[in-house]
Amino acid sequence: MALIEARSVSRNVATTAGKLQILSPLSLAIDAGEVVAIVGASGSGKSTLLSLLAGLDLPSTGDVIVDNVSLGDLDEEQRAILRGEKIGFIFQSFLLIQSLSALENVMLPAELAGSRNPEKQARELLEKVGLGERLTHYPNQLSGGEQQRVAIARAFIGEPQILFADEPTGNLDTETGSRIEELLFELNREFGTTLVIVTHDDSLAQRCDRVLRIAGGKLVEQGANTEAGAEEKSSAKGNLATGSKEATTDVA
Ligand SMILES: Nc1ncnc2c1ncn2[C@@H]1O[C@H](COP(=O)(O)OP(=O)(O)OP(=O)(O)O)[C@@H](O)[C@H]1O
Ligand SMILES: [Mg+2]
Repeated sequence: MALIEARSVSRNVATTAGKLQILSPLSLAIDAGEVVAIVGASGSGKSTLLSLLAGLDLPSTGDVIVDNVSLGDLDEEQRAILRGEKIGFIFQSFLLIQSLSALENVMLPAELAGSRNPEKQARELLEKVGLGERLTHYPNQLSGGEQQRVAIARAFIGEPQILFADEPTGNLDTETGSRIEELLFELNREFGTTLVIVTHDDSLAQRCDRVLRIAGGKLVEQGANTEAGAEEKSSAKGNLATGSKEATTDVA
């Protein structure tokens, strides 16, 4: 059964020139444990779609259903709670809190969720993304790629059921980018995290179970969403959760 479903979702914005439709009505379903790429030209509506699927924005028409909950039925606060419980988001623009260090930025969601040892978790994640030496740096003391890696560590900390990533490797060199890519797929394998990744990187898109293509605000391709694929994955997940060695990719 679908974990995320969009039903005739569209998005209009008001501009000085009148109403602009940035996303035409589209429907799609993403199963638990799927890894889905969203591709398309700049300005085609990828980030807009991601924000709607993650409940960060509400659609102008239609509805998004996450884990059987209709987001349109929730108020702002209830949506924030649902996001806190189930969803991680890596923003294109990172959105780090400037007055907090790298470590504090990553710890924050875990602190808010009342986790037991947020600092330990945050340190481990920052080490995983190669920033063990930058824990006390503030965002303005970090390079673009480093800020992106802090944002990735922050998105991972709650072990979200669904992770939305908006061009997670967009600002990174090839090597760091592929490390981050491995981290994402590792999360999927180990915890069955559903991944929805906006990317311009063809090789990353190829590795995903399915590619959704957006052109001019329209969903023009969405591949096959197979129950069989999801089942295959969930049985593989069992092995990996027990920590079998071959299954774990060392990214540090
Ligand atoms: N609040 C807004 N008001 C007006 N236009 C908007 C607004 N948000 C997005 N747009 C427009 O909607 C279109 C889709 O934007 P979106 O950010 O979803 O594109 P994208 O596919 O993520 O592009 P990129 O690859 O460059 O990140 C763009 O043309 C953008 O200018
Ligand atoms: Mg975008």
